Amino acid sequence: MLPTIAESIAETRSAVAAARKAGKRVGFVPTMGALHAGHASLIRAARLAGDYTVVSIFVNPTQFGPNEDFTKYPRTLAADRELCGAVGTDLIFVPTVDEMYPASSRTIVEVPALQEVLCGRTRPGHFRGVATVVLKLLEIVRPDVAVFGQKDAQQALIIRQMVADLNVPVEVKVHPTVRESDGLAMSSRNRYLDPTQRLHATSLHKALVAVEKMVANGVRSIPELQQCMVAIVQATPGARLDYAEVRDADTLDALTTLDLPALAALAVYFGSTRLIDNKFLNP
Ligand code: PAJ
Repeated sequence: MLPTIAESIAETRSAVAAARKAGKRVGFVPTMGALHAGHASLIRAARLAGDYTVVSIFVNPTQFGPNEDFTKYPRTLAADRELCGAVGTDLIFVPTVDEMYPASSRTIVEVPALQEVLCGRTRPGHFRGVATVVLKLLEIVRPDVAVFGQKDAQQALIIRQMVADLNVPVEVKVHPTVRESDGLAMSSRNRYLDPTQRLHATSLHKALVAVEKMVANGVRSIPELQQCMVAIVQATPGARLDYAEVRDADTLDALTTLDLPALAALAVYFGSTRLIDNKFLNP
Protein backbone atom coordinates (compact mmCIF):
# COMPACT_ATOMS: atom_id res chain seq x y z
CA MET A 1 0.00 0.00 0.00
CA LEU A 2 1.23 3.50 -0.78
CA PRO A 3 2.02 5.42 2.40
CA THR A 4 0.13 8.59 3.29
CA ILE A 5 1.92 11.80 2.39
CA ALA A 6 1.82 14.71 4.84
CA GLU A 7 3.05 18.08 3.67
CA SER A 8 2.38 20.06 6.82
CA ILE A 9 3.90 19.88 10.28
CA ALA A 10 0.41 19.90 11.83
CA GLU A 11 -0.77 16.89 9.78
CA THR A 12 2.41 14.99 10.65
CA ARG A 13 2.09 15.73 14.34
CA SER A 14 -1.54 14.62 14.48
CA ALA A 15 -0.89 11.39 12.53
CA VAL A 16 2.01 10.50 14.84
CA ALA A 17 0.00 11.48 17.94
CA ALA A 18 -2.81 9.12 16.85
CA ALA A 19 -0.32 6.26 16.37
CA ARG A 20 1.20 6.93 19.76
CA LYS A 21 -2.25 7.05 21.39
CA ALA A 22 -2.86 3.61 19.90
CA GLY A 23 0.21 2.45 21.86
CA LYS A 24 2.57 2.34 18.89
CA ARG A 25 6.31 2.90 19.09
CA VAL A 26 7.46 5.37 16.44
CA GLY A 27 10.50 4.79 14.20
CA PHE A 28 11.83 7.57 11.99
CA VAL A 29 14.20 7.84 9.02
CA PRO A 30 15.06 11.35 7.80
CA THR A 31 16.13 11.50 4.12
CA MET A 32 16.51 13.87 1.21
CA GLY A 33 14.76 11.42 -1.14
CA ALA A 34 16.07 9.84 -4.35
CA LEU A 35 15.78 6.71 -2.25
CA HIS A 36 17.89 3.62 -2.90
CA ALA A 37 18.61 0.28 -1.19
CA GLY A 38 20.69 2.05 1.51
CA HIS A 39 17.67 4.11 2.56
CA ALA A 40 15.47 0.99 2.30
CA SER A 41 17.64 -0.84 4.81
CA LEU A 42 17.35 2.08 7.23
CA ILE A 43 13.56 2.02 6.86
CA ARG A 44 13.55 -1.73 7.54
CA ALA A 45 15.64 -1.14 10.67
CA ALA A 46 13.18 1.55 11.81
CA ARG A 47 10.28 -0.86 11.24
CA LEU A 48 11.99 -3.51 13.33
CA ALA A 49 12.52 -0.98 16.12
CA GLY A 50 8.93 0.30 16.16
CA ASP A 51 5.39 -0.27 14.93
CA TYR A 52 4.73 3.03 13.17
CA THR A 53 7.32 4.13 10.61
CA VAL A 54 7.80 7.69 9.43
CA VAL A 55 10.15 8.73 6.60
CA SER A 56 10.85 12.38 5.85
CA ILE A 57 11.86 13.54 2.39
CA PHE A 58 13.22 17.06 2.38
CA VAL A 59 16.07 18.42 0.27
CA ASN A 60 17.33 20.75 2.98
CA PRO A 61 18.65 23.99 1.45
CA THR A 62 20.61 25.03 4.56
CA GLN A 63 23.04 22.12 4.27
CA PHE A 64 24.06 22.92 0.68
CA GLY A 65 26.82 25.42 -0.08
CA PRO A 66 26.33 28.17 -2.69
CA ASN A 67 28.13 26.17 -5.39
CA GLU A 68 26.66 22.78 -4.50
CA ASP A 69 23.93 20.70 -6.11
CA PHE A 70 20.80 21.91 -4.23
CA THR A 71 18.81 22.81 -7.37
CA LYS A 72 19.88 19.74 -9.34
CA TYR A 73 19.64 17.28 -6.41
CA PRO A 74 17.42 14.42 -7.73
CA ARG A 75 13.75 14.72 -6.74
CA THR A 76 11.88 11.45 -7.39
CA LEU A 77 8.85 11.54 -5.09
CA ALA A 78 6.64 9.05 -6.98
CA ALA A 79 9.38 6.39 -7.03
CA ASP A 80 10.32 7.19 -3.42
CA ARG A 81 6.72 6.66 -2.33
CA GLU A 82 6.69 3.27 -4.10
CA LEU A 83 9.91 2.23 -2.37
CA CYS A 84 8.61 3.35 1.04
CA GLY A 85 5.38 1.43 0.42
CA ALA A 86 7.25 -1.72 -0.61
CA VAL A 87 9.51 -1.63 2.45
CA GLY A 88 6.71 -0.71 4.85
CA THR A 89 6.22 2.95 5.78
CA ASP A 90 3.16 4.43 7.43
CA LEU A 91 3.73 8.12 6.80
CA ILE A 92 5.97 10.21 4.55
CA PHE A 93 6.57 13.80 5.66
CA VAL A 94 7.36 15.94 2.61
CA PRO A 95 7.45 19.55 3.74
CA THR A 96 8.07 22.58 1.55
CA VAL A 97 11.02 24.87 2.26
CA ASP A 98 8.57 27.51 3.58
CA GLU A 99 7.00 25.00 5.96
CA MET A 100 10.44 24.17 7.44
CA TYR A 101 11.97 27.64 7.24
CA PRO A 102 9.39 30.42 7.48
CA ALA A 103 10.93 33.84 6.83
CA SER A 104 10.84 34.56 10.58
CA SER A 105 13.09 31.61 11.57
CA ARG A 106 16.51 32.40 13.07
CA THR A 107 17.77 29.63 15.35
CA ILE A 108 20.61 27.38 14.24
CA VAL A 109 22.27 24.39 15.88
CA GLU A 110 26.05 23.98 15.86
CA VAL A 111 28.17 21.11 17.14
CA PRO A 112 31.66 22.65 17.44
CA ALA A 113 34.82 20.63 16.71
CA LEU A 114 32.99 17.62 15.22
CA GLN A 115 31.54 19.84 12.48
CA GLU A 116 34.87 21.44 11.53
CA VAL A 117 36.98 18.49 10.33
CA LEU A 118 36.71 16.09 7.34
CA CYS A 119 33.64 17.07 5.27
CA GLY A 120 33.17 20.20 7.39
CA ARG A 121 36.41 21.65 6.07
CA THR A 122 35.32 21.42 2.43
CA ARG A 123 31.66 22.18 3.15
CA PRO A 124 31.61 25.05 5.66
CA GLY A 125 28.15 25.42 7.20
CA HIS A 126 27.04 21.99 5.97
CA PHE A 127 26.76 20.32 9.37
CA ARG A 128 25.10 23.38 10.89
CA GLY A 129 22.37 22.91 8.28
CA VAL A 130 22.19 19.17 9.01
CA ALA A 131 22.04 19.56 12.82
CA THR A 132 19.42 22.29 12.58
CA VAL A 133 17.11 20.40 10.23
CA VAL A 134 17.50 17.10 12.08
CA LEU A 135 16.63 18.71 15.43
CA LYS A 136 13.57 20.31 13.80
CA LEU A 137 12.52 16.98 12.24
CA LEU A 138 12.97 15.19 15.58
CA GLU A 139 10.81 17.85 17.26
CA ILE A 140 8.12 17.53 14.58
CA VAL A 141 7.96 13.72 14.52
CA ARG A 142 9.04 13.03 18.15
CA PRO A 143 10.05 9.45 17.33
CA ASP A 144 11.13 6.83 19.86
CA VAL A 145 13.91 5.68 17.51
CA ALA A 146 15.63 7.50 14.64
CA VAL A 147 17.87 5.62 12.21
CA PHE A 148 20.88 7.07 10.39
CA GLY A 149 23.48 5.53 8.05
CA GLN A 150 27.13 4.81 8.78
CA LYS A 151 27.75 5.99 5.18
CA ASP A 152 27.64 9.52 6.65
CA ALA A 153 29.72 8.70 9.71
CA GLN A 154 30.53 12.29 10.65
CA GLN A 155 26.86 13.25 10.36
CA ALA A 156 25.88 10.33 12.62
CA LEU A 157 28.45 11.39 15.26
CA ILE A 158 27.23 14.99 15.15
CA ILE A 159 23.61 13.90 15.57
CA ARG A 160 24.47 11.60 18.48
CA GLN A 161 26.34 14.46 20.16
CA MET A 162 23.49 16.92 19.57
CA VAL A 163 20.88 14.48 20.90
CA ALA A 164 22.98 13.87 24.04
CA ASP A 165 23.81 17.55 24.62
CA LEU A 166 20.26 18.81 24.10
CA ASN A 167 18.57 15.91 25.94
CA VAL A 168 16.46 14.98 22.93
CA PRO A 169 14.35 11.99 24.02
CA VAL A 170 15.14 9.69 21.10
CA GLU A 171 17.23 6.57 20.63
CA VAL A 172 19.69 7.07 17.74
CA LYS A 173 20.56 3.95 15.77
CA VAL A 174 23.35 3.88 13.19
CA HIS A 175 22.95 1.33 10.42
CA PRO A 176 25.82 -0.19 8.35
CA THR A 177 26.62 1.12 4.87
CA VAL A 178 24.85 -0.65 2.02
CA ARG A 179 27.08 -1.17 -1.04
CA GLU A 180 26.77 -2.10 -4.71
CA SER A 181 28.19 -5.54 -5.59
CA ASP A 182 31.54 -3.94 -6.54
CA GLY A 183 31.85 -2.17 -3.19
CA LEU A 184 30.68 1.34 -4.15
CA ALA A 185 28.63 2.79 -1.28
CA MET A 186 25.09 3.48 -2.45
CA SER A 187 24.34 7.18 -2.74
CA SER A 188 21.71 9.38 -4.37
CA ARG A 189 24.66 11.15 -6.04
CA ASN A 190 25.92 7.99 -7.83
CA ARG A 191 23.40 8.70 -10.58
CA TYR A 192 25.44 11.76 -11.60
CA LEU A 193 28.40 9.53 -12.58
CA ASP A 194 28.99 8.69 -16.25
CA PRO A 195 29.87 5.03 -16.99
CA THR A 196 33.65 5.64 -16.83
CA GLN A 197 33.40 7.58 -13.58
CA ARG A 198 31.11 4.87 -12.18
CA LEU A 199 33.76 2.26 -12.96
CA HIS A 200 36.50 4.25 -11.20
CA ALA A 201 34.28 5.24 -8.26
CA THR A 202 35.10 1.89 -6.63
CA SER A 203 38.51 3.38 -5.74
CA LEU A 204 37.07 4.81 -2.49
CA HIS A 205 36.11 1.35 -1.26
CA LYS A 206 39.38 -0.13 -2.59
CA ALA A 207 41.37 2.44 -0.61
CA LEU A 208 39.47 1.56 2.58
CA VAL A 209 39.93 -2.17 2.05
CA ALA A 210 43.67 -1.63 1.43
CA VAL A 211 43.95 0.28 4.72
CA GLU A 212 42.05 -2.46 6.56
CA LYS A 213 44.56 -4.99 5.19
CA MET A 214 47.52 -2.87 6.31
CA VAL A 215 46.04 -2.71 9.82
CA ALA A 216 45.52 -6.50 9.81
CA ASN A 217 49.21 -6.79 8.83
CA GLY A 218 50.25 -4.73 11.83
CA VAL A 219 50.70 -1.21 10.40
CA ARG A 220 49.87 1.38 13.09
CA SER A 221 51.32 4.58 11.61
CA ILE A 222 48.48 6.97 10.71
CA PRO A 223 50.55 8.87 8.08
CA GLU A 224 51.34 5.54 6.39
CA LEU A 225 47.67 4.50 6.38
CA GLN A 226 46.58 7.88 5.03
CA GLN A 227 49.29 7.83 2.36
CA CYS A 228 48.00 4.47 1.12
CA MET A 229 44.51 5.92 0.55
CA VAL A 230 45.93 9.05 -1.10
CA ALA A 231 48.07 6.95 -3.48
CA ILE A 232 45.12 4.77 -4.55
CA VAL A 233 42.92 7.79 -5.27
CA GLN A 234 45.72 9.64 -7.07
CA ALA A 235 46.29 6.60 -9.31
CA THR A 236 42.58 6.57 -10.30
CA PRO A 237 41.75 8.18 -13.67
CA GLY A 238 39.32 11.11 -13.31
CA ALA A 239 39.50 11.15 -9.50
CA ARG A 240 40.39 14.28 -7.54
CA LEU A 241 41.09 13.81 -3.84
CA ASP A 242 39.31 16.04 -1.33
CA TYR A 243 40.62 14.29 1.80
CA ALA A 244 41.68 10.84 3.02
CA GLU A 245 42.17 10.69 6.77
CA VAL A 246 42.21 8.38 9.76
CA ARG A 247 40.85 9.95 12.97
CA ASP A 248 39.59 8.95 16.41
CA ALA A 249 36.26 7.15 15.82
CA ASP A 250 34.43 9.00 18.61
CA THR A 251 35.93 12.49 18.76
CA LEU A 252 37.32 12.77 15.20
CA ASP A 253 40.53 14.08 16.79
CA ALA A 254 43.74 13.60 14.80
CA LEU A 255 45.84 10.53 15.68
CA THR A 256 49.48 9.68 15.02
CA THR A 257 49.29 5.97 15.79
CA LEU A 258 46.36 3.61 15.63
CA ASP A 259 45.98 2.82 19.31
CA LEU A 260 42.24 3.58 19.59
CA PRO A 261 39.22 2.64 17.47
CA ALA A 262 39.54 4.90 14.44
CA LEU A 263 37.56 6.00 11.42
CA ALA A 264 39.17 5.92 7.98
CA ALA A 265 37.24 8.37 5.81
CA LEU A 266 37.68 9.88 2.39
CA ALA A 267 35.98 12.21 -0.07
CA VAL A 268 36.75 12.16 -3.78
CA TYR A 269 35.48 14.23 -6.70
CA PHE A 270 34.66 12.72 -10.08
CA GLY A 271 34.01 15.82 -12.16
CA SER A 272 31.70 17.89 -9.97
CA THR A 273 30.30 14.84 -8.17
CA ARG A 274 31.65 14.42 -4.66
CA LEU A 275 31.58 10.90 -3.18
CA ILE A 276 32.33 9.90 0.41
CA ASP A 277 32.98 6.60 2.16
CA ASN A 278 34.44 5.34 5.44
CA LYS A 279 35.24 2.28 7.53
CA PHE A 280 36.02 1.71 11.19
CA LEU A 281 39.53 0.49 11.98
CA ASN A 282 40.18 -1.47 15.14
CA PRO A 283 43.79 -1.69 16.34
P1 PAJ B 1 20.36 11.34 2.66
O1 PAJ B 1 21.67 11.54 1.96
O2 PAJ B 1 19.13 11.17 1.84
O3 PAJ B 1 20.52 10.10 3.60
C1 PAJ B 1 19.49 9.73 4.49
C2 PAJ B 1 20.03 8.66 5.41
O4 PAJ B 1 20.40 7.51 4.64
C3 PAJ B 1 21.30 9.12 6.16
O5 PAJ B 1 21.24 8.69 7.51
C4 PAJ B 1 22.40 8.41 5.38
O6 PAJ B 1 23.56 8.16 6.16
C5 PAJ B 1 21.70 7.13 4.99
N1 PAJ B 1 22.36 6.48 3.84
C6 PAJ B 1 22.65 7.03 2.63
N2 PAJ B 1 23.30 6.15 1.86
C7 PAJ B 1 23.42 5.01 2.59
C8 PAJ B 1 24.02 3.72 2.35
N3 PAJ B 1 24.61 3.43 1.21
N4 PAJ B 1 23.96 2.81 3.34
C9 PAJ B 1 23.36 3.09 4.53
N5 PAJ B 1 22.78 4.28 4.82
C10 PAJ B 1 22.82 5.22 3.85
O7 PAJ B 1 21.83 12.30 5.07
C11 PAJ B 1 20.92 12.99 4.65
O8 PAJ B 1 20.08 12.59 3.64
C12 PAJ B 1 20.61 14.35 5.22
O9 PAJ B 1 21.79 14.97 5.64
C13 PAJ B 1 19.56 14.34 6.38
C14 PAJ B 1 20.06 13.51 7.58
C15 PAJ B 1 18.23 13.78 5.87
C16 PAJ B 1 19.33 15.79 6.87
O10 PAJ B 1 18.89 16.61 5.83
